[in-house]
Amino acid sequence: MCGIVGYTGESLEAEEILLDALKRLEYRGYDSAGIALIDEGEGVVEVFKRAGSIEELKQGLPPVKSKTGISHTRWATHGVPNDVNAHPHTDCSGKIALVHNGIIENYKALKERLIAEGHQFSSDTDSEIIAHIVEENYHGNLLDAVMKTVEELKGSWAILVIHAEHPGEIVAARHESPLVLGKKFDKVFAASDPTALLKYTDQFIFMEDGQIAHLKDGTIALYDLKGKEVEPIWQRITWSVEDAEKGGFEHYMLKEIYEQPSTIHQCLQGWDEGALSELNIEGTRSITIVACGTSYHAGLVGKYVIETFAGLPVTVETASEYRYSSPKDFSSLHIFISQSGETADTLAALREAKRRGNETLAITNVMGSTITREAHHTLYLRAGPEIGVAATKTFTSQVVILYLLALYIGKRRGKLLSEEVEGTLREIKHLPRAVEAILSKEEEIRNLAEMIKEATSIFYIGRFVNYPSALEGALKMKEISYIHAEGYPAGELKHGPLALLDSSLPVVAILTDDHTYDKMLSNIGEVSARGSPVIAITEEGDREVVKYTEHVLYYPKVMPILSPVPVAIYTQLLAYWTARLRGCEIDKPRNLAKSVTVE
Ligand code: F6R
Repeated sequence: MCGIVGYTGESLEAEEILLDALKRLEYRGYDSAGIALIDEGEGVVEVFKRAGSIEELKQGLPPVKSKTGISHTRWATHGVPNDVNAHPHTDCSGKIALVHNGIIENYKALKERLIAEGHQFSSDTDSEIIAHIVEENYHGNLLDAVMKTVEELKGSWAILVIHAEHPGEIVAARHESPLVLGKKFDKVFAASDPTALLKYTDQFIFMEDGQIAHLKDGTIALYDLKGKEVEPIWQRITWSVEDAEKGGFEHYMLKEIYEQPSTIHQCLQGWDEGALSELNIEGTRSITIVACGTSYHAGLVGKYVIETFAGLPVTVETASEYRYSSPKDFSSLHIFISQSGETADTLAALREAKRRGNETLAITNVMGSTITREAHHTLYLRAGPEIGVAATKTFTSQVVILYLLALYIGKRRGKLLSEEVEGTLREIKHLPRAVEAILSKEEEIRNLAEMIKEATSIFYIGRFVNYPSALEGALKMKEISYIHAEGYPAGELKHGPLALLDSSLPVVAILTDDHTYDKMLSNIGEVSARGSPVIAITEEGDREVVKYTEHVLYYPKVMPILSPVPVAIYTQLLAYWTARLRGCEIDKPRNLAKSVTVE
């Protein structure tokens, strides 16, 4: 996830402070870094930026005496990681410099307009256009120029802007991307995360959506979108720097679980149909999804969803098996899902699929990763870096991308009407709220984790679209708590696993208000008749399941086919709390690596 820092103060130490504060955002992950400083003596803005680490940036940096500047770590979303795409970006005059976090949805239209007006661009980013719009709107007052600029933007942003003719000034704006302001004596700061600034201050203003801040000569003034000054709310933060890197959470995994309302939102905002315009959907008779681990489970959800919305048959294969399968007589669209984009098994399967003459589409979280260079088409999750080894936020983003893709394919194949697509999209847009509601129930989940923490084995059962949820729930549990866990299609229990059930083996049963509900209830009956404690995950309003178990976790009403998203939040938190109560090493489970680059 990108990181932003801004500083202005009396002393000429902007360069040192900006680089030091930026380093404290390294934990978020990044692929390039940059800094812009106002050199008052020369009356210019000096910009230094490059792909690579902050250390590498520092090595090529001359000492600049400056009291005002901005800095940035970039995690690529539009345009590959390289020197020109790194921030800060400048306008045509070179006097304005800007850093941006977020996604500008209407950047293509804005860029076309600016090019027609004679603007020249050097990067492939959506961010660069903002500097040029500020340039258009600038008539001597930087604050006014930024206020006018944000009126034209659609999407999400946290931006900091400086101007060579305004030493001692930074203008900051926020919309759906976090931005905090800090102050100590004559020094004022801005950052995407208070972590960056804890060494310098403990006094913060958390900017709200639509606010614009004017940092000038040691003061901060805050405005709403209409330009009306608003009273800032100062808060004192007493985190240690280490706590703060995890945003105050005990583990990265927990932080990443809690990020999901915003990562799902970002995924929706970043959906780019343009990336699919060349896809030969009309010519394909079937779809094959190939992936490993959690990504494979997302692929299984994708199977039900694509078959439902697009009417195409879908097979899902684990990547390590795909390359040994027999080639088919006809080609099909192959979708490769990989959070890292570097999983060796998935890459080997991708190469094999291409060799067999199939069209390939990658779904990944990492810009510029190997998979993006080798697949014919790529869709990005835009979930920000995932540091915990157990995949959480990237799973829900993969599932959301697959919903969007299924709708897109359904529409292009004439299987869905525009109204149907719009209606489902509206439902999908409610998912961040449903996730938030579950995150507020941590206490209940923790209590259930207490109940199961001594188990030596746990089963997860579900049907239809929540059969993959059962597999994913079991995978999360086993990898971080080291409790043996298995996921089953609920109907399979009676074909063998039922033999293992007794009071020592808890069963997590996932229900959805769809055509599988009654069958799931009778499966729960079978389980509880054997004395196994049942934890049911079901939709709010379910009055039947309590007849079988008192341990019920309710998720808000969603369209049944979307239920794997709220369900995943419960299974992630259940695994997390079980592992934590057992004292496990959560972010780095034994024997596992975040990116599996060997076959
Ligand atoms: C489980 C997990 C792994 C990965 C798998 C594939 O929590 O993270 O099962 O899902 O190794 O990795 P990617 O998606 O990077 O290809």
